[in-house]
Amino acid sequence: MGFIVGIDGPAGSGKGTVTKKVANKLGLINIDTGITYRCVALKVLNQKISLKDIEKIIEVAKNAKIYIDNTPNGDNVYLDGKNVTKDIRSKEVTKIVSQVSSIKEVRFIMVDMQRKLAEGKNVIMEGRDICTYVFPNADVKIYLDANIEERAKRRYKENQEKNINMTYEEVYENIRKRDENDKSKEIGALKVAEDSIIIDTTSLNIDEVVDKIIDIITLKKAKL
Ligand code: DC
Repeated sequence: MGFIVGIDGPAGSGKGTVTKKVANKLGLINIDTGITYRCVALKVLNQKISLKDIEKIIEVAKNAKIYIDNTPNGDNVYLDGKNVTKDIRSKEVTKIVSQVSSIKEVRFIMVDMQRKLAEGKNVIMEGRDICTYVFPNADVKIYLDANIEERAKRRYKENQEKNINMTYEEVYENIRKRDENDKSKEIGALKVAEDSIIIDTTSLNIDEVVDKIIDIITLKKAKL
């Protein structure tokens, strides 16, 4: 068993950016589990499958060949052999991904894939249910949070940098709906694990959060 750091938190809490930085600094493999759900959502859109057609969506999840190429400049994502790095961040995918990820069977398939990706490696894995469900025995468990206005502001800015066309109001509403949906899932709901350390990032900059997490990991490693 490798060393596992789990990072959970809602959209815009800073998970993505912070996790990549910590991974680079400590030489850990970074696994963004949201990518797996985004790939299924993209396939559902491409194949024009109705969100009510649960059986077909499960079939799509079963057959999705997802490959994540971890580079220091970010992840390159391949779905069935095609580079979908940009497509999985589109407005359309972002709108339906939480709903797709609420399907129990889709979660079982994706969680299985996520556990395999981490097998025997030293990883930092980010998502919603890493510390509660995917790796309840992770060596380090962290929950990142921030108030919704700050999270919407961050995501809006990030979208502008990536040329994703969404107004601040659209981003805010999307995050609000996703929070609601992510927190009420039957399995793998977004919640704080009993033994997770909560970091409120509302008034912290990225480097301050990175330093805090590195301190927590270093302390834990010293005790092993
Ligand atoms: O982190 P993200 O915004 O890329 O995640 C996209 C969606 O996937 C999010 O709305 C909830 C879902 N998700 C999940 O249910 N469980 C995870 N471990 C990661 C993401």
